[in-house]
Amino acid sequence: MVGEERVSTGVPNLDKLIGGGFKQGSVNIVAGKPGSGKSIFAMQFLVDGLKRGEGCIYISFEERKKKVFEDFREFGWDLEQYERTGLLKFLENTPEQIRRVVADGGGTLEVIATQIGAKRVVIDSISSFSMLFQNDSNKRGASLALFEIISKWGCTTLLTSNAENEDGIDLDFEVDGVIFLHHQMIKNSRERSLEVIKMRGTDIPNKIMKMDLDKKGITINPSKAVSL
Ligand SMILES: Nc1ncnc2c1ncn2[C@@H]1O[C@H](COP(=O)(O)OP(=O)(O)OP(=O)(O)O)[C@@H](O)[C@H]1O
Ligand SMILES: [Mg+2]
Repeated sequence: MVGEERVSTGVPNLDKLIGGGFKQGSVNIVAGKPGSGKSIFAMQFLVDGLKRGEGCIYISFEERKKKVFEDFREFGWDLEQYERTGLLKFLENTPEQIRRVVADGGGTLEVIATQIGAKRVVIDSISSFSMLFQNDSNKRGASLALFEIISKWGCTTLLTSNAENEDGIDLDFEVDGVIFLHHQMIKNSRERSLEVIKMRGTDIPNKIMKMDLDKKGITINPSKAVSL
């Protein structure tokens, strides 16, 4: 169930532009090209929850835990520590395993979510899950079933999605919020920017904002509009 309470995105300056954050229990997508910062955004969202003592689940179809933990150490995120204390569950699942979770109406994932008292879930990426299905109607059906299961636990969900541009985002109609990370050539240099494409029940900014990605993670500068 999507509630009125808001859950911080973990990205400084973004929450106040979208009514305080993602809606509690909502399903959201962060989309973009390879290297646009989707996985970093997704982990930053979880780290915000971990710092507040919330249980978090990261389901990775793309990368191994060891590598992800190593890469994210650079941002000062001690994910091993959160895993040791039982707040973080990093699952190196395959899309097929998640399909089984859907078929079982929650299955092993529900056991884990209950055990750690999960409040936030990331699936990196939903594109890999979508590829299991041959036609749009099956893909839509399975994805909605998955979202419903996660919402039932009261978790706020963030999915990463591979897309070349805003028009190519899969499942954008099915989710509550969509954020696009641009990484475009502007006057001979590649610039990062962030665009809130939709956020149900929320007044959203009507401009594309400059985004920085450095060892502090992702930050945005709302006063710097970017024209692409
Ligand atoms: N410490 C850092 N400082 C600056 N930029 C960094 C740092 N660490 C990573 N990056 C940038 O972030 C990019 C990776 O971000 P991320 O893994 O979130 O992308 P992604 O959108 O998930 O990509 P993919 O679709 O390949 O999974 C790197 O290609 C690099 O440009
Ligand atoms: Mg990634």
